[in-house]
Amino acid sequence: MEPLVARKTLRKSLRALRNGLTESEQQQAALAVRDNLLSLPDITNASSIACYLPNDGEIDLTPFIHSCWDLRKTSAPHTSLPVLHPVCNGHLLFLRYTEATQMCVNKYNIEEPVLACPDVIPTFHHQIILMPLVGFDEMGNRLGMGGGYYDRTLASIQAQSVRPKLIGIAHDCQQVDQLPVQHWDIPVNAIITPTQQLSFNRT
Ligand SMILES: Nc1ncnc2c1ncn2[C@@H]1O[C@H](COP(=O)(O)OP(=O)(O)O)[C@@H](O)[C@H]1O
Ligand SMILES: [Mg+2]
Repeated sequence: MEPLVARKTLRKSLRALRNGLTESEQQQAALAVRDNLLSLPDITNASSIACYLPNDGEIDLTPFIHSCWDLRKTSAPHTSLPVLHPVCNGHLLFLRYTEATQMCVNKYNIEEPVLACPDVIPTFHHQIILMPLVGFDEMGNRLGMGGGYYDRTLASIQAQSVRPKLIGIAHDCQQVDQLPVQHWDIPVNAIITPTQQLSFNRT
């Protein structure tokens, strides 16, 4: 099958799988991912972690975010959320996210912080970026929803020697043998599922 067609077909079937999970399966997945993330020194030592709010059956990071806010009372980390870039079409900005953040809804019906320049955390200031995904494979390739937002946003920092660690967050049912990748796809450094912690060596 032609790669772009294969990607479209895969997106459809993998999205159906995760949307078919029950509410209780989703809740358990969210708690298991929280626990897995909190067991990683990279996470507990990070001062800035980009998260996301769930959409389309994605794993809910809210329990993890609340744990970060509890930890924050004594130390790190800051949490941020992606916001559709108001000027650079197809790119994301990351804005600080706290209990006090005012939220609005974007064109995809996803909640995001109200845009305020002092709240912007530059992408490269994050130690960790937690990324939603539709599919992944054992090489750490990532298939997104098809908008290319993370690929575009992260392309500009690929040349930097110190970069955020990219961690894909996924249900186990989102794993496939081998994803059809395109040259613009940015692979992740690690994948966390409710039952797995996969790590990939990249230079
Ligand atoms: N660095 C980039 N610069 C310009 N366009 C890009 C870049 N990365 C991705 N795109 C475009 O975004 C679109 C969606 O990318 P794709 O990888 O299929 O989506 P996703 O990563 O969400 O699964 C593609 O048409 C691709 O050309
Ligand atoms: Mg991509």
